[in-house]
Amino acid sequence: MNKATRKAVIAGNWKMNNTPAETAALIDAMKPLVKDADCDVVLCVPYIDLFAAMDAAKGSNIKIGAENCHWAEKGAFTGEVSAKMLNACGVEYVIIGHSERRQYFGETDVTVHDRVRAALNEGLKVILCVGETETENEQGITAEVLRKQTKIALQGVSEEELKSIIIAYEPVWAIGTGKTATAEDADKYNGIIRACVAELYTAEAAEAFTVQYGGSMNAKNAAELLSKVNVDGGLIGGASLKAEDFSIIVKAASI
Ligand code: PGA
Repeated sequence: MNKATRKAVIAGNWKMNNTPAETAALIDAMKPLVKDADCDVVLCVPYIDLFAAMDAAKGSNIKIGAENCHWAEKGAFTGEVSAKMLNACGVEYVIIGHSERRQYFGETDVTVHDRVRAALNEGLKVILCVGETETENEQGITAEVLRKQTKIALQGVSEEELKSIIIAYEPVWAIGTGKTATAEDADKYNGIIRACVAELYTAEAAEAFTVQYGGSMNAKNAAELLSKVNVDGGLIGGASLKAEDFSIIVKAASI
């Protein structure tokens, strides 16, 4: 198996943007633009927008995800939402371990692992984010950071369960900054993640595994990034808030 047989996934990460009404309007605008996509199209939206998003996306090729989930099924965790709750609402995907969660909300490799476990237990598809900080990049330890984050998150995950996981390589210094990894570096580090998956599982599992790039991917640079053999899609922040830009990225992944 190779890139040609792996399913590309373009996922939007709306972060803390859009009201339910704005959600419906933006998805309505996106639907005709992405309907012929030859890749999976996912929009991960704030909890409060999930119902509006699922309603608006009904009957289309757009799948809906949340931006996080808690590791417990229920309990005294003010402000959190469980994987079980997301599943009960009909949500299909969930982002876990986004660097903004790690940076601003105290997420650790261990809590990321626990959230991945909870999401898998509920049958959700996981977009697991890994990535190095600017300092780690300058120290030349990017590969070690990616391998560590990947290994801890995937502990106890079976090869069958791995089919429900995508990894997004997101260099922290590239997120929301307009700075993008070069296509060569995105390819290299996505390849390192794939090699780590091969080590943990099998060569076949790694070949079939989707590894996205994320971090200032936009309508202009998407085609070059997505042309690389190890870049099987993208996790898109800013550019997923504009229907036209997002659809250009979807088209670039559909070639
Ligand atoms: P960005 O965000 O595309 O705005 O850099 C990517 C992400 O955070 O997933």
